[in-house]
Amino acid sequence: MQIPDRTRLLRELKNQLLFLKDAGYSEIPIESELFPENISTSNTTPINIVENSQKIKTLTQVRDELGDCTRCKLSNGRKNIVFGSGNPNADLVFVGEGPGADEDEQGLPFVGRAGKKLTEIIEKGMNLNREKDTYICNIVKCRPPGNRDPEKEEIEACNPFLLQQLKAIQPKVVVALGKPAASTLLGRTVPITKERGTWHDYAGFKLMLTLHPAYLLRAYTIENRKAVHSDMKMVLKELGQ
Ligand code: URA
Repeated sequence: MQIPDRTRLLRELKNQLLFLKDAGYSEIPIESELFPENISTSNTTPINIVENSQKIKTLTQVRDELGDCTRCKLSNGRKNIVFGSGNPNADLVFVGEGPGADEDEQGLPFVGRAGKKLTEIIEKGMNLNREKDTYICNIVKCRPPGNRDPEKEEIEACNPFLLQQLKAIQPKVVVALGKPAASTLLGRTVPITKERGTWHDYAGFKLMLTLHPAYLLRAYTIENRKAVHSDMKMVLKELGQ
């Protein structure tokens, strides 16, 4: 290849990647036809993005693609994949860490003690309906053995599915529950007690960080309860409620 050709190709590639970044992509979905043959490399206009964004999958398609997943070793010990539950068109999505024993058993997120607390926060604290007004999922879809923290490779294997879930739902607000969820979504270690109650951006979605309901149960202080209450008030304001 001639040097000027290579330079031109690299420049065009960079432009394509910048368009994708501006459109909210934080990764390249290599299974989809991101760069179909018929897109002219000399015309890197936003029209390419429009074509691409029409390929955003539905939640059902994302679930189908996940299949009977064996992409990481969590699949060895799981009983059920815990994909997520709630309204596929919800304005509000909660993202937790990973399924525990009850969730693994039932294949549903947040159905144990922490789940009851989360339901209480949503229904009593925010005056919303868990099933109708929210969608709930986790950063990993299979239970880590003994409820240990999910490992980097496990999070990385599952993360594309979380991103696709959010793109399918298009919520107005995403709430990260606790440090592992916040750290995964922001790609850095988040000191959650310091950064809770602050707004961030995740792939173009408004992201609020708050304490995990299991942490709240463990440290059931007035201070922590007030903190979560105040975070959820900010979320409700953003939702126009
Ligand atoms: N804790 C989580 O982070 N997720 C669940 O689904 C249940 C408990």
